[in-house]
Amino acid sequence: MERRMILGFLFATLFVGVIIIILVCFTAKNGKRPEPVIDDEPFWKRSVVFQVYPRSLYDGQPDGTGDLIGIRSKAEYLSELGVGAVWLSPIYKSPMKDFGYDISDFTDIDPIFGTMADFNALVNTFHNKGLKVVMDFVPNHSSDQHPWFQKSIKRQDPYTNYYIWAKPKNVLDDGTPVPPNNWLSVFRGSAWTWNKDRGEFYYHQFLAEQPDLNYRDPNVTQEMKKVLTFWLDKGVDGFRVDSLQHLFEVEDLSLDEPVASDSDITDPDEYNYLNHTYTINQPETFTVLREWRHLLDKYPDKVLMAEVYNNNVDTVMQYYGNDTVSLADFPFNFLLIDNLQNRSQLTGHTLRSTIGLWLDSMPEGKWPNWVLGNHDNGRVASRLGTDLVDALNMMTLLLPGTPVTYYGEEIGMENTFVSWEDTQDPQGCRWGPQHYQEHSRDPARTPMQWNNSSLAGFTTANTTWLPVNPNYKTLNVEAQTKAKNSHLKIYKDLTKLRKEEVFKKGHYAFPLVTEDIFSFLRYVEESETYMLVINTSEEDLELNLHHGANIELPHTGQVVLRSITDTSVKTEPGSEVDLSKLPLVRGEGLLLLLSL
Ligand code: GLC
Repeated sequence: MERRMILGFLFATLFVGVIIIILVCFTAKNGKRPEPVIDDEPFWKRSVVFQVYPRSLYDGQPDGTGDLIGIRSKAEYLSELGVGAVWLSPIYKSPMKDFGYDISDFTDIDPIFGTMADFNALVNTFHNKGLKVVMDFVPNHSSDQHPWFQKSIKRQDPYTNYYIWAKPKNVLDDGTPVPPNNWLSVFRGSAWTWNKDRGEFYYHQFLAEQPDLNYRDPNVTQEMKKVLTFWLDKGVDGFRVDSLQHLFEVEDLSLDEPVASDSDITDPDEYNYLNHTYTINQPETFTVLREWRHLLDKYPDKVLMAEVYNNNVDTVMQYYGNDTVSLADFPFNFLLIDNLQNRSQLTGHTLRSTIGLWLDSMPEGKWPNWVLGNHDNGRVASRLGTDLVDALNMMTLLLPGTPVTYYGEEIGMENTFVSWEDTQDPQGCRWGPQHYQEHSRDPARTPMQWNNSSLAGFTTANTTWLPVNPNYKTLNVEAQTKAKNSHLKIYKDLTKLRKEEVFKKGHYAFPLVTEDIFSFLRYVEESETYMLVINTSEEDLELNLHHGANIELPHTGQVVLRSITDTSVKTEPGSEVDLSKLPLVRGEGLLLLLSL
């Protein structure tokens, strides 16, 4: 009996011991954060995000302006392109003073784009094709035509404090009220407009027709959560959050912002004349963002991408959160736009440092992204050179992270000249006929070029909201589909290549960077290594990749892809090339497969 008890006790101890060991091992492994299982990765890590400017993709109900029926009809094109998610710039009800970024109903569709039924149909079609739909969420402001603002003017509760209202600092002898402080609008001039009905100023970070919402009023926070829930319940796959850093201002409206001493701007109406210490990146912004994150996390597989334009990369990084607090999945990486405004700024070194800056500044465990252009910036082909179109697409689609492609970048669309008479963008209009071209965003917003028929096949109406680029006769989707080699074909090859293991989770390294050469490797141990080489110079070169490389490169490599050039047969895809005598014309990118 006693022996049996002792044996039983021993067995029980052994059993408990084994359980404890299993538990300890399991916890230790999880504590080290196991390698992610790639197939379970969220869609936004696997996908290219494609930005559609809805007025300009395709005019399905012909009136010269693009719409939802038009976008839906291009589902096949987008899925063949190989992108995984489509971000729609705003399609909500809007007086269109800032082309949809001035919203008068956050939960309805503007008739210019169609109906809610058109939107539902679009989401259905896209989902059936495996395309995610990401909405633009514009929380900082509404339109001045929004009923909330109209009721706020009249101090109708609960709307009285939905916006940022302030008494004048003082009133001049002639009766003119003076704004409470010197804060400036991004679109220039005072950020305060007098409302005579309410007898107060209201604050607007952008146009006077875009009054800023007051997130210090809990009702506003609630309303905007309802907006997010409305669209999530409709099945959208996430949001791009507009102008996020502007969400809060300091409470004390008597504070003037200091003049930017480090800037050469002398025009006191220009936004960057001041240092924006009181109007951007206030700590409360992160609290609200966290609440939105929680809300999204109640739904499976949603993305939150944040628009934060700031010269200080560490400030931008705060929007990722950290290893304990998740905020946006990523703030957009605008470094390739900000640091590379024109060709003279582009060298191997600047590309390396710009890319490195993002990768090295990211908080631990976060995910990079790459943006070459959008509806607020000149087209990359015009900024940096048409010869670089393929090389830059290769770069952004093959680096680790999520590329964000602006419509038309896949075919290398260029800026379009828009005359003063045709100018639509309020940012251009506010600078007047002499200076509008330096500020107007219209040149990058013109209709997508589908074919060489009249108006580029964008519409069957006889006019378009912005002029079509005259280069559409040769630069269009149809021509590039038929051509043996084209930007479009390279782009499609790239989205296919991205599906390979090495691009999904491979390591990266920068083996050779000079003034004229930018290169990186993608590799997985004991398997293939890809090397992208770009001639960043404006000369045709014969490169010796062994010169100055920080690893031992093989003698030869196999060409996988190369830019569209009228170059040498020596680098035809499929051919074996000598890495010590590699011809690369200006702006050319060459993707090689190496045996290392
Ligand atoms: C964002 C948008 C821009 C718009 C502004 C005001 O920066 O990208 O197009 O004008 O917000 O909403």
